Amino acid sequence: MQKNGWTMSAETTYPNYSPGLQGVVAGITTISHIDVDTSSLTYRGINVHELAEYGSFEETAYLLIYGELPNSAQLSEFRATLARERQVPDAVIQALRACPKNMHPMDQLKVAYSMLGAFDADYDAPATDHDANVRKAIRIIAKAATCVTAGYRISQGKEPVPPHADLNTAANFLYMLHGEMPDDYTVKVMDASLTLYAEHTFNASAFAARVTVATMSDLYSGIVTGIGTLKGPLHGGANEEAMYMLMDIGSADKAEAWTRDALANKKKIMGFGHREYRKSDSRAAYLTKIAKEIGKMKGNTTYGDIADVMERVMWDEKNLFPNVDFPAAYAYYLLGIPIPLYTPIFVIARTSGWAAHMIEQLDNNRLIRPSCIYEGRGVTSFTPMDQR
Ligand SMILES: CC(C)(COP(=O)(O)OP(=O)(O)OC[C@H]1O[C@@H](n2cnc3c(N)ncnc32)[C@H](O)[C@@H]1OP(=O)(O)O)[C@@H](O)C(=O)NCCC(=O)NCCS
Repeated sequence: MQKNGWTMSAETTYPNYSPGLQGVVAGITTISHIDVDTSSLTYRGINVHELAEYGSFEETAYLLIYGELPNSAQLSEFRATLARERQVPDAVIQALRACPKNMHPMDQLKVAYSMLGAFDADYDAPATDHDANVRKAIRIIAKAATCVTAGYRISQGKEPVPPHADLNTAANFLYMLHGEMPDDYTVKVMDASLTLYAEHTFNASAFAARVTVATMSDLYSGIVTGIGTLKGPLHGGANEEAMYMLMDIGSADKAEAWTRDALANKKKIMGFGHREYRKSDSRAAYLTKIAKEIGKMKGNTTYGDIADVMERVMWDEKNLFPNVDFPAAYAYYLLGIPIPLYTPIFVIARTSGWAAHMIEQLDNNRLIRPSCIYEGRGVTSFTPMDQR
């Protein structure tokens, strides 16, 4: 391969190099675990399905940050702290107003969190101050839904709706988005999806956030890194792309031909595949059931029907299975959530996982700085301008 005038050896393999760091062990964690054999996911040892079914996003966030499930008093206090911390400073709202109207909500979030760090009461705390980092984590989690909905409403020419003190994260997101009280069923689905999205071991954005704070930078910088990394369609951005794809396909009778054609043209099909799982993503199975249930309730099974066909063809042709972003896409769509907010919803949830990772990193820190293989030209002397 020719690049910038010298030769890159695309075919060369190196024994100590794994492209995309596949299979490379990059750290030790106690936060979450993927069991590849059973395709199961646990947060601090607890199966994520049990958390989604019987717990709440707040209990999950507490578990991720503190390492244990809260008792009733601890959960009440945690909820009260989140409620107190949901407001964002007016200067941040003004900054969101100054953003171009076509700015994607993920980019608005980078703006918001870049500013929020300096408003944090622990702004000057040392990077490794564990207690200050926990306080920052809670403020970061609390403000995410407020920033997402304020930014979106402003981009739509509407006024932000302030958070409601009595509502949890899921309900507040819906309330601040639509400006009216959400129904219990929608809140429950949203809450379960936040739990499923909250954490996922050394995924690209959590790893990137860990790299950022490992330089002794702060949690807010790590959050901005995480948001930027999550935005791409190979990571969190897949849920939005999956919905555009389902809409493009339009009906189940076109799904098989569409999928086969996409595969023949070597297109990546959004919402399928995973770096870690081999057979299935158990979060997807859980959310598919819910998404289909919503479809039946709303009298719109189109997307569930398209999904069935695509899942069959993808498995038959490529042994690929849907990941969590695939059912999340049509579940959110059926709940009436605007598509550009799907990845930001992922942020609302994942602030908890990112924060837990950054705290874990800083509690036992070492700079993350890998090596690389040099394939560029050999040492050459500087060529004077008149000889180039
Ligand atoms: C998640 C993902 C990035 C993992 O990537 P990875 O581990 O680097 O795997 P690769 O991209 O190298 O894919 C390996 C093979 O599977 C194929 N593949 C993987 N995911 C695919 C997809 N979604 N659609 C079509 N083919 C896919 C690749 O084309 C490749 O095939 P080849 O060996 O014949 O060239 C990848 O599956 C993907 O791009 N999925 C779509 C985006 C998505 O849903 N992301 C959210 C993840 S939670």
